[in-house]
Amino acid sequence: MKPAIRVLPSLLAADMGRLEEACVRAREAGADALHLDIMDGHFVPNISFGPAVVAMARRCFGPALSVHLMVTRPDLHLRAFAEAGAEVLLIHAEAPCDVAGTLRDIRSLGIRAGLTLNPETPARFADRYLEAGLLDEILCMSVHPGFGGQAFIPNVLPKLAALRRRAPPLDLSIDGGIDAETGPRAAAQGANLFIAGTALFGAGDMAAEVRRYRERLAAAFAPEPPAEA
Ligand code: DX5
Ligand code: ZN
Repeated sequence: MKPAIRVLPSLLAADMGRLEEACVRAREAGADALHLDIMDGHFVPNISFGPAVVAMARRCFGPALSVHLMVTRPDLHLRAFAEAGAEVLLIHAEAPCDVAGTLRDIRSLGIRAGLTLNPETPARFADRYLEAGLLDEILCMSVHPGFGGQAFIPNVLPKLAALRRRAPPLDLSIDGGIDAETGPRAAAQGANLFIAGTALFGAGDMAAEVRRYRERLAAAFAPEPPAEA
């Protein structure tokens, strides 16, 4: 089955004083889901927001919430984010916790489980979790996590293709520096979920941008990206 192309605005790029309005704006723009970046100031240098903001997003945007845990101990916070309304919880492969056990715990809370790979982390780090059938999504970071507005790192493109070849029906997402130009480059390597903060929240007409992205991404998407030469 061909994975669906989805566009996810990242709330990190919204005006932090007007988050409710930002969630409504993303919903009215027709975004497929909303991405929320949880940062603890330890796993990454920045601190963002917690479960209360996820609960607000559930109320103002809806149930399609992608929650990206950039925290040192994601295993300690699963229930709080589940109760707040996350649809998928993404943990990092680099987190110093029992990653396999945490992925299992996410599923046991009735939530989709995702694994995130930092730009330097190779595709093979996902293998043991894929083989164990623990993953609903793999997120490839195309910036170093912690801040919005950074430049896309093109070196991650071959990793997307390698992951798509390993797992044809999986949701494969890309996060960091995504816009109408970099998104299609990732789609051509097999990515199907596109997280964009600065580019979408900075747009004059978010609805038009979401439609434009979807068209360009669908045209570029390669379900079977070519193997490396
Ligand atoms: C970065 C976050 C991203 C961020 C993307 O650590 O994981 O989700 O919000 O922002 P842009 O699209 O501005 O690079
Ligand atoms: Zn993110």
